[in-house]
Amino acid sequence: MEYNDFTDDSEPGLPEGKEYETAPVRLREMREASSAETLAFRHAGIASPPNKGAEWSMTPQLIQQQEREAAAGFKKRELGVTWENLTMEVPAASASVKENQFSQYNIPQLIRDRRQKPPMKCILKDSHGCVKPGEMLLVLGRPGSGCTTLLKMLSNRREGYHTIKGDVRFGNMTEQEAAQYRAQIVMNTEEELFYPRLTVGQTMDFATKLKVPSHLPDGTESEKGYVADTKQFLLESMGIAHTFETKVGNEFVRGVSGGERKRVSIIECLATRGSIFCWDNSTRGLDASTALEWAKALRAMTNIQGLSTIVTLYQAGNGIYNLFDKVLVLDEGKQIFYGPSAAAKPFMEDLGFVYTEGANIGTYFPILIDVHSKDNADNIKVIS
Ligand SMILES: Nc1ncnc2c1ncn2[C@@H]1O[C@H](COP(=O)(O)OP(=O)(O)O)[C@@H](O)[C@H]1O
Ligand SMILES: [Mg+2]
Repeated sequence: MEYNDFTDDSEPGLPEGKEYETAPVRLREMREASSAETLAFRHAGIASPPNKGAEWSMTPQLIQQQEREAAAGFKKRELGVTWENLTMEVPAASASVKENQFSQYNIPQLIRDRRQKPPMKCILKDSHGCVKPGEMLLVLGRPGSGCTTLLKMLSNRREGYHTIKGDVRFGNMTEQEAAQYRAQIVMNTEEELFYPRLTVGQTMDFATKLKVPSHLPDGTESEKGYVADTKQFLLESMGIAHTFETKVGNEFVRGVSGGERKRVSIIECLATRGSIFCWDNSTRGLDASTALEWAKALRAMTNIQGLSTIVTLYQAGNGIYNLFDKVLVLDEGKQIFYGPSAAAKPFMEDLGFVYTEGANIGTYFPILIDVHSKDNADNIKVIS
């Protein structure tokens, strides 16, 4: 049965006079279902996404660089990540609020507070998944749904959380064992921290100098040459070679534009030559075409260098979405979908949601848009 236009009740695919349940009802059911039930691998066997081998303009240079390093005896540093039953709790906001400045000296109250367990809020519940070397996972969710929290766990940055339950493994290492390979597990955070008075060239110079291999690949005479080559490749890959002499800047120091600064932080990450890359909402501030170019760059690097790439985005267009192997959707800390990216559409159709041809699959999950708005409630209908 085809449902092309579900806004029109007279459409031949839809039975006449049928009552439609609106999305919020079905959404509640999805939230109540256990995460195991939402595991969509029953759709396994679906072909890999169409754009998986999408060409990036810098791919030939990347292959050349990789071949040069392989010839020099560099091994690929492949590392996957798996996690299971990952649950995280933090004290609820009410527990950390003091009534006034004198209440901190109220000894009887302090003793009473210490005896009682603070009310806890679950910010991630029973999450599970796996990213193998050469795979890309897209984590989708509305702001506040726990995307950054999950990403921090997967990049082994566990500070600042009250309770962390469950297993995270990097290859066959536990999180304590993986702590010594911190430089291999890279996270690009949403807010960038830079030395604002350094120029883009100096910033990249510093980043690439830190990662010069102990024996240089063939065709490179000196360390300086290696640094210059890598720097040039990275700057060109994101199209910001022209900002070489411009300060990075911040709110107070005039420098490159916001989008260019984002690209500096992206290539600074790539300069680390890590194994697992976690990107937190890295398309913020990028225009649509640069965002797609960035996603293609990640795909090419993931394929060629065997990286494990995890990306969180609030929303993704089909161009970006189709580059990913797997998708994980979070809603208020709960994993409501995890599976191959091509399985998301059949999964939602199984639940009765109707897909309009050409719509973004990344926003097909009703939790990713405001279902209470009139337009969306009209558009997202469920066959009961
Ligand atoms: N260290 C923390 N302590 C207390 N609450 C936190 C902490 N980290 C995140 N939270 C809360 O968990 C929820 C999810 O946060 P986050 O993972 O940053 O969401 P997202 O990245 O999806 O926007 C938010 O409500 C946030 O306030
Ligand atoms: Mg976030």
